Amino acid sequence: MCGIVGYLGEKNTKEILLDGLKELEYRGYDSAGIAVLEDGNFSNYKAIGKLVNLEEKTKNYSTKGLAAGIGHTRWATHGKPTEINAHPHLGESSYVVHNGIIENYTELKKELINSGVKFLSQTDTEVIVHQFEKNLKSSKSAFEAFSKTIDELSGAYAILLVTKSEPNTIFYAKHGSPMLVGKNSENEKYFASSDTPLIGHCTDVNYFEDGDYGYVTCDEIAIFDQQGTKKEPQFSKLSQNKLSAQKDGFRFFMEKEIYEQTSVVSDTLMGRLSDEEIIFDEIDKNLFDGINEIKLCACGTSYHAAMTASYLFERYAKIKTSLEIASEFRYREPIMTKDTLFVVISQSGETADTLETLKMAKKAGLKTLVICNVDNSSMVRLADSTILTRAGIEKGVASTKAFATQVTVFWMLTLYIAKFKNSLSTQEISRQIKLLREVPSHLKVTDEMHERIKRLSKRYLHGHGFFFIGRDVFFPLALEGALKLKEISYLHAEGYPSGEMKHGPIALADPELFTIALLPEHLHYEKSKSNVEELSARDSTICAISSKEFDKADDFIKISTCKDYMLEFFEMMIVVQILSLEISIRLGNDVDMPRNLAKSVTVE
Ligand code: M6R
Repeated sequence: MCGIVGYLGEKNTKEILLDGLKELEYRGYDSAGIAVLEDGNFSNYKAIGKLVNLEEKTKNYSTKGLAAGIGHTRWATHGKPTEINAHPHLGESSYVVHNGIIENYTELKKELINSGVKFLSQTDTEVIVHQFEKNLKSSKSAFEAFSKTIDELSGAYAILLVTKSEPNTIFYAKHGSPMLVGKNSENEKYFASSDTPLIGHCTDVNYFEDGDYGYVTCDEIAIFDQQGTKKEPQFSKLSQNKLSAQKDGFRFFMEKEIYEQTSVVSDTLMGRLSDEEIIFDEIDKNLFDGINEIKLCACGTSYHAAMTASYLFERYAKIKTSLEIASEFRYREPIMTKDTLFVVISQSGETADTLETLKMAKKAGLKTLVICNVDNSSMVRLADSTILTRAGIEKGVASTKAFATQVTVFWMLTLYIAKFKNSLSTQEISRQIKLLREVPSHLKVTDEMHERIKRLSKRYLHGHGFFFIGRDVFFPLALEGALKLKEISYLHAEGYPSGEMKHGPIALADPELFTIALLPEHLHYEKSKSNVEELSARDSTICAISSKEFDKADDFIKISTCKDYMLEFFEMMIVVQILSLEISIRLGNDVDMPRNLAKSVTVE
């Protein structure tokens, strides 16, 4: 995903910007650029591909004195990954970089074009700089023009802008995308979209809040809130330890990644939703020509996301869907017919078992699609088509945000297929797209919820086993909850369909058997409830997760009242992830690097 850096000071601005961008490389990008204003003149460089290309282009360039510079790594959303679409974007005498999405850019662009402005790129970002320059003509100062511009934008953004009309100043705004500013005793100012580029340069940092905007000069960091009221910066000391800074103050990467799900899922959705349809620019509609069946193949957590998709594809897209565990598929001499689209799902894109099945499908002449988080991975290079999940790097071995983004992609893909198959009405597709827009807010972890789970986790440190149970898409979620717990707590846990317990496992029921019951209000509530009551009657210890109070449970974790079962799915996903995390922490385990496991399993 995109990264932003900014610098105002007398050191070699180019080096500082490029080093900062390197620290953000892990987020993934497809082009990069910098713009530096020194002595009233701009120097601007852009390159597609990796930062080495930008380094090569700038190798003979350096600054000599005070300069204001901004830099950006871009992950294409609006417009292809070309040099013209790379940031910074130029107006007449100003440059801008931006993370996020300007939702009203089409209207603004239309007005600007009508007034004679020429656009070079296909990006939403370019409107910011032109709008600023339009406002500049009728404003008393660059800051007034910038404030007006920010007022006119809707959407999510972190913005840096430099302009000849106010040299030695960097203007900034933050709404929905992260950004911070740092200072040091040498009067230098640094901006970035996460703390790591600032480590070693700054002692104190201010994390901007949504709605903050303003400017920095050598002597001042001016911050205004959404209402335009000036406020004091709230500085905190910046840790000088890169590893702990990368954790953003969380105890473990897994915990950080759970909390990040709200923002990475916004990235997954970015540029892919219109009011009535899903836009996947990266896949050709003819990928589905002649296809009567979808075969989903994966391992571990990715397999659970695939299983969730199998319910959605058949229910909404009305397409026959089968599901395969990659390590099994490889050796069972499967029948592969050319009317099947073979879809592999992988966070890493390197899992050996999954990769081999992709090779088998290609060899059999099937069309292939990969849902993956890592661009340029082996699977991405091999498959006919790719949809990237945009989760950003996942460090915790126990996968969390990869799962959330995979399920989000699958939900979008369901609606994408449903549209051209006419299996859902336009109104229903629009309704579900509205729900998709709400997913990020349902993924927010509240202190209250985390605290509650932390407290009750102490009751679940022993026992002879856990059953996570659910119906329909809550069955793969139950499997995923059980896998999370197993991986990091080393306690035995199984995921089971709620209705299947009575066919055997209920024999295990006693107070030392812990049942984690997923009880969505909007999907088979009564049936699932009866299954839990059967276990409760046999004295199993029950922890129920639901929006509806449930008095047969020993513990109850309340999620919010949602409009649809898929939103309940995401809320419950957060609960099972945090429950596993807190149990593991109480047991003193290494949450991020559990024993015997590797992040990427490249062996059979
Ligand atoms: O990179 P992949 O998605 O292909 O990895 C598949 C599994 O190895 C992975 O999901 C594994 O199960 C995780 N440790 C789950 O937390």
